[in-house]
Parts: sequence; structure tokens; C-alpha cells
Amino acid sequence: MKALLLAGGTGSRLRPFTHTGAKQLLPIANRPVLFYALDALAAAGVTETGIVVGAHEPEIRHAAGDGSAFGLRLTYLRQEHPLGLAHAVLVARDFLGDDDFLLYLGDNYLPDGVHGFLHRARTTPAAARLLLTRVADPTAFGVAQLDPANDERVIGLEEKPERPRSDLALVGVYAFTPAVHDAVRAITPSARGELELTHAVQWMIEQGLPVRAETTTAPWRDTGNVDDMLEANRQVLDTLVGTVEGKVDACSTVRGRVSIAEGAVVRGSRITGPVIIGAGAVVTGSHIGPYTAVAEGCRVEDSAIAHSVLLPGARVAGAARIEDSLIGRGAVVAPAPALSRAHRLVIGDHSKVHLTS
Ligand code: TTP
Repeated sequence: MKALLLAGGTGSRLRPFTHTGAKQLLPIANRPVLFYALDALAAAGVTETGIVVGAHEPEIRHAAGDGSAFGLRLTYLRQEHPLGLAHAVLVARDFLGDDDFLLYLGDNYLPDGVHGFLHRARTTPAAARLLLTRVADPTAFGVAQLDPANDERVIGLEEKPERPRSDLALVGVYAFTPAVHDAVRAITPSARGELELTHAVQWMIEQGLPVRAETTTAPWRDTGNVDDMLEANRQVLDTLVGTVEGKVDACSTVRGRVSIAEGAVVRGSRITGPVIIGAGAVVTGSHIGPYTAVAEGCRVEDSAIAHSVLLPGARVAGAARIEDSLIGRGAVVAPAPALSRAHRLVIGDHSKVHLTS
């Protein structure tokens, strides 16, 4: 079975990060989200993988290469405009040929992988197989309605419904037979101008094709917004195996599961795991953690940072307490001159700052 990994899209919910980079390369525990998806595909026994990319193609190519580092063979498929998940399937038509395939959203994080799902897709064929999970607020998701007499049979799908008919949301993994190609050609753009995959699957249901689902309670995250990114970071850090290879001076304390990469330096600081600190980062007079990832080349001085993610090269100084924050590449958070009573901000488009006073 082939795989189709979707790594294009607009990423509007992750602005400003997506103005300058692919959201699929944002790090969870200092590793791009996309890499977890590539690992999951390889672990499920997939090799031939098409990866749909948009404007951020060069960085994604640079990061994932030909896929051999993951045990995959990657074919890059350019989607010129992010016209929807079903449009991405249209773009991949030649690559997919007449093979069955697994479709995986490249910003989704499924720590338990897709091995079982893929196995059941192979052994219990259906035109489409969906993975579902119960959510508190289904209005933000594609939602499935199951046959009351057979909870594996899907009888209806809706995209972000105002009045959901169930609490079963679509997780970003699907298995399809080539029957999906007729479906993605048959549908028309939705009100938001996208070819929706849920509409394509609904079309398949209306044609009488068998659409099956399975419901999972395994952890899953769509990392498409900041809160979910931070939550995925917490989940991965919870499984961290601590190793301290960088330099930690005698005035510092390191507690819990902490990974400090070679080339990182910690001076006069308290690190409370789980925490990961990347190569070349320098932490001085600070308290880091818990649940914090400091990427390579960051500088943190005289600050306390918890439940946060710092991207490569970020600098934070004199911050009494930072929590639940995502700080961009090379961004600077620094104290104002002593006499200043005003906040001075130089922040990018669509950035968010929460002031406490
Ligand atoms: P979404 O998160 O549904 O869409 P988006 O990336 O446009 O984000 P936002 O809603 O915040 O604007 O996309 C899920 C995955 O599919 C993600 O990895 C991006 C990818 N994708 C494509 O490859 N092509 C597309 O046309 C779209 C819409 C998404």
C-alpha cells in the first residue's frame, strides 16, 4: 500500500509561524512534527510515499530529503494552491495510480502509529476507511455518523457542523481504494473554497460504496494551532529519556527527565524535567521547565520558562515568568530599560502577545 502525506496547506491558525515556514516543520520536543508522521508510516511497513507540498516545498525537501533516513521513498507532489484535502488527492492522481493508499495529514501526531489501522484496512477492505475519536467539541472537526445497527458502517459525514450528529471526529488518517479518485473529481468547492475530503467520502457513501470506520481512544493531536502544538510537546516530553551530554556547571540543578544536547551549556540554572535543550543553547541564571523544549542555538538568561517551546535561535532575557508560549526562530524577548513604563513591541503580522499588566 502507498501513502500520501499532506504537507501543504495555508496554516492560517499557526500564523505568524507559517508566514516564514511550514507548520509541519514546527518542532515537538525539538523534532519536526512531520518526522513523527514519517516514522509512523515506516513503522507501519509503508515505503512508497507521496508528499504533497505547497509554497514551503524547499524547506520540506531540505528536512525530509528522499526519505531514506526514515526508511521511505519520498516523491514530492507540488500543489500550487492549498485548495483542500480532496484537491491534494487530485494532485497525486498519477503518483497513486490504481493502488490502495493511506492518507495521512502531515500536521497530525499519533504516538501509537498507524500499524493496526493499516493492517485492518488491508484485511477488511472498504472503499474508504476512517479513523475516529470522541471529542468534547465536534464543531471544529469533520464528524461521522455511524449506522446504529453496525458501528463500523459510516452513514454520513459533515465538515465542521454547527449541530453535530455525533461526537466522533475524524482523525487525520484515512485508507482509500482508487474509488476515491472518482469522488474527488465529482465534488465542487465548499463555501470556504476548498475541495473537502469529507464531501468526497460523503459522495462515496451516497454512491452506495462501503465506507467503514474504527474508533480509537489512543492519543492523537492535530497540531494545527498553538495550544495543540504545546499539548503535543507535553505528550512527547512525557516519554523523554533523559541524557545530559552538554555542560552543566556545579551551580545548576537538573531534576527529572532532562535531555541536554552536546554543545549546550547550562550555568547557575534550575532545570525541572521533562525538558529538552538543543545543541548550542546557552541557559544562564534561569529556571526551565517543566514541559519545555529549547531548540538549538537559543539563549535564555535570568528568566523562568515553563510549558513552552522555543524555536532555534530564540533569545529570552529578564523574563520573570513565561508560560504556555511558542517563541519563534531568532525572536527576542528582552527587558525594557529600567525607566520605561511602556511595553515596546516589534512583532510580526498575526502575532499574539498577552500582557499581564
Ligand atoms: P488543515 O490544517 O486542515 O489546513 P491548513 O493547513 O490550510 O490550516 P489552517 O486551517 O490553519 O489554515 O490541513 C491538514 C493537513 O493537510 C496539513 O498538513 C496541511 C495539509 N493540506 C494540504 O497539503 N493541502 C491543502 O490544500 C490543505 C487545505 C491542507
